[in-house]
Amino acid sequence: MKKIVIHRAGDYKELKLEECKDLNAKDAEVVVSVKAAGINYADIIIRWGLYESAKKFVGWPITPGFEYSGIVKSIGPNVKNYKVGDNVFGVSLFNAYASEVCVPEHQLNFIPEKMTFEEAAGFPAVFMTAYHALLQIVVVRPGMVALIHSAAGGVGSSLVQLCKIKGIKTIGVVGSSHKVQSIKDLGCDYVIDKSIEDLWKKVEEYAPRGVDLAFDANGVETMQGSYDHLMASGKLVVYGAHSMFPKKGGKVNWPKLVVDFLKSPRFNPLNMTSENKSLITFNLSFLFERRDLLDEAMLDLIMWYNEGKIKAPIIKSYPLEKVGEAHMELESGKTVGKLVLIP
Ligand SMILES: NC(=O)c1ccc[n+]([C@@H]2O[C@H](COP(=O)([O-])OP(=O)(O)OC[C@H]3O[C@@H](n4cnc5c(N)ncnc54)[C@H](OP(=O)(O)O)[C@@H]3O)[C@@H](O)[C@H]2O)c1
Repeated sequence: MKKIVIHRAGDYKELKLEECKDLNAKDAEVVVSVKAAGINYADIIIRWGLYESAKKFVGWPITPGFEYSGIVKSIGPNVKNYKVGDNVFGVSLFNAYASEVCVPEHQLNFIPEKMTFEEAAGFPAVFMTAYHALLQIVVVRPGMVALIHSAAGGVGSSLVQLCKIKGIKTIGVVGSSHKVQSIKDLGCDYVIDKSIEDLWKKVEEYAPRGVDLAFDANGVETMQGSYDHLMASGKLVVYGAHSMFPKKGGKVNWPKLVVDFLKSPRFNPLNMTSENKSLITFNLSFLFERRDLLDEAMLDLIMWYNEGKIKAPIIKSYPLEKVGEAHMELESGKTVGKLVLIP
C-alpha cells in the first residue's frame, strides 16, 4: 500500500508519499481499499505540528486523514455487519491519506446509493462537525437566526444546510465574491461578502436584535464581534481559529500566531451571566469515545441525504501524490466545498 507520511512539522514538501506493508484486520476491524480520502483544514494544522489530538494520540511520523470512502478489502474475525466488496465510508482517527485504511467496524457506514466515492469521502467530517455544533451542544428552535462564518467552506456549507432543515434563518459570511452563489444555491437567507461589504453593519441590518447562534472558526479576527452580535440567550460556538494561520507559503508565521493568541478575547463568566450569552467550544477529534453522539449524527445525516434534505459538498479531486497542491489550495482560503485525494 502507499500512504502520505509527515515526519516533521513544515511546509508542503513534508508530505511524503511512501510505500509500506498492506494492512491486516484484527478483531472487529475492517481494512478498506481507499477510493477517496477527504482533506480537512485540520490536516494542515497537523502538518504544522500544532494539532493537539495529533500530538496526543500519534506524534511523528503521522499520516493525516479523518475520512475516506472505498471498498472493504478484508475483515477481522469479529466483524458483524460488513463483508469483503462492500462500498463503505466513514471516519478515522488519522491515517486516511492512503490507499488502505484499517478502522473499527463501528466507524463505517454503507455508501448511499446516489453518493459517489468522492462525495462520500468528503461528507463525514464536515457534516458531523456541523451536526454536533448545531444539534448536540445547543438547543434550536424554528425562527432562530444563525450567523455562519466561512459559509461556503466544508463545515460552513454543511451548517447552512442543517439550519435549513431546522427552520433557522441563516446569515452566511464569505471572504471572496466567487463563493457567494454556492451558498445562495444551498438556500442561505442572507449572504455577506466581507471582501466588499462591511461585515458587522450587514449583520446589524439582517439581524437588528442580534443573532441566536454564531458559528465561528475564524478565531481572533471575528470572535469578539460574533459575541457582541449575539442577542440575549445567544450562543457563540467556536470550533477553530484559522485566521491565525497564513494563507500562502505553507509555513507558520510565529510572530503573528503569538500576537493573535495574545489578542484573542478572554470571556468573563460573571459578565456573561448578566449578558445572558454563552460560549461553547468543541473538537471532534477528542470525541471519538462518544460513539453515542457520533452514531446519532451519522444516522440522521445519512437519512437526510437519502431524503434529499442535504446535498453532499461540492468536490474537487487531487491524485494522492498531489497532496501538497491540495493543501496549498485549502490554505489559500479560496476553496468552495471540499477537496479529496484519490490514491
Ligand atoms: N472543532 C472541530 O471539531 C472541527 C472539525 C472540523 C473543522 N473544524 C474547523 O472548522 C474550520 C473549517 O474547516 P474546513 O475543513 O471546513 O475548511 P473550509 O471552511 O473549507 O476552509 C477554510 C475557510 O476558512 C476561511 N479562512 C479565513 N481565514 C483563513 C486563513 N487564514 N487561512 C485559511 N482559511 C481561512 C476561508 O473562508 P472565508 O474566507 O470565506 O471565510 C476558507 O475557505 C477550520 O478552522 C477547521 O479547523 C473544526
